[in-house]
Amino acid sequence: MVNFDYQTPTRLIFGKGVVAEKLQEVMAQYGNRVLITYGGGSIKRSGLYDQVLELLKDKEIYELPGIEPNPKFNPSVLAGVRICKEHHIDVILSVGGGSVLDCTKAIAGAACSDEDPWDIVIGKAPTLKAIPIVDIITLAATGSEYDSGGVISRTESNDKLAYFSPYVFPAVSFIDPTYTFTLPVKQTLAGVADCINHIMEQYFCGEHISMNDAFMEGAVRSLVRNVKVVLEKPDDYEARAEIFYATTLGCNGIYALGNSASGWPMHAIEHALSGHYDITHGEGLAIVTPRWMRHILNSTTGELHEQVVERITSFGQNVFGTATPKESIQAIHDFYKGIGIPMTLREVGIDESRIGEMAHHVALNEGLDEAWVPLHEEDIAAILRDCL
Ligand code: NZQ
Ligand code: ZN
Repeated sequence: MVNFDYQTPTRLIFGKGVVAEKLQEVMAQYGNRVLITYGGGSIKRSGLYDQVLELLKDKEIYELPGIEPNPKFNPSVLAGVRICKEHHIDVILSVGGGSVLDCTKAIAGAACSDEDPWDIVIGKAPTLKAIPIVDIITLAATGSEYDSGGVISRTESNDKLAYFSPYVFPAVSFIDPTYTFTLPVKQTLAGVADCINHIMEQYFCGEHISMNDAFMEGAVRSLVRNVKVVLEKPDDYEARAEIFYATTLGCNGIYALGNSASGWPMHAIEHALSGHYDITHGEGLAIVTPRWMRHILNSTTGELHEQVVERITSFGQNVFGTATPKESIQAIHDFYKGIGIPMTLREVGIDESRIGEMAHHVALNEGLDEAWVPLHEEDIAAILRDCL
């Protein structure tokens, strides 16, 4: 078991009706000037926007609407930083999915610095503090509500890069699974695929302990079971709640304390896909997953190969009841296809023309040559070609 140093300062308030019950009490701990960040309108259609404004009617409210999926540095992060500086914002309330919250984290860090906001995002300039963040998360997927990272896209350079700072852990996250009743099927499925992949990124590593294996296999079994329930019945509270619980823990590290690092290769490759083509993150991951598994099974030798065989076999055995590594890879592919996720790049509008460019971008920026199974530019290109 490897050493770990773990702390999550985020308060989770989980369940039906928690916003009405506790938002005012929580927001009273911060100052009067509140910036509310949100996306393209789902919170207006669901009535959450009106509810939040009503609950915060005594506050001085500023708004940053229109944050897009795969949130953009320009205009969203820059606009948010401007508002925070100009109006001396005390607290930011993020209401929406992971994209809104990720963008909020970048704003919160960059607004407390005189450095170039892009330098803050890429870590060239240090984040020394951040405006406190409270969030109401409406999509079960990223786990951004319980982690210290955000992923920001810069369109002109096709960059989609992760921003990390312990200062941008949300102070408080409200998680009401009933908000996910209104999710389009596509987003429900992409969210589940994102979380399964977060778990796989932590499961597929060199050194691991049996308790973590059981924890992660159990979470994936729960996701596999419950996504089928909500496809039949989108307002099944118990199933939505269990999905949200699994996704909230996804990127926090808690699934794999004591395991060795993996390098998160599938995320590194997917971020190039959504950075270059603006596709839905969870769909990109579902497409990459079985191809990455196949690549590491076929390309490794010796002790590393034995580790790869053991991990792929045991994942398949304990999640899908398969016996061999090949069956395990086929099972995850068939599961995604069976619930309706597009499983080739062509289905999401990507052809071979930019594979070389994307592989180069990943090799340059993501450090995968030091991953558990090291990947070089030609490996990344081969995996992407296999995804076509
Ligand atoms: O913009 P609005 O109108 O709000 O609509 C959103 C958006 O169109 C909609 N939506 C959200 N909640 C809804 C809803 N529609 C109906 N009912 C609801 N309750 O869903 C669409 C997608 O939203 P988005 O926030 O983009 O999705 P998600 O939460 O999956 O976030 C994806 C982003 O997070 C990054 C991804 O790369 C991607 O940029 N990630 C963040 C991570 C983190 N912070 O730890 C880790 C992940 O691995 C991931 O990379
Ligand atoms: Zn993810």
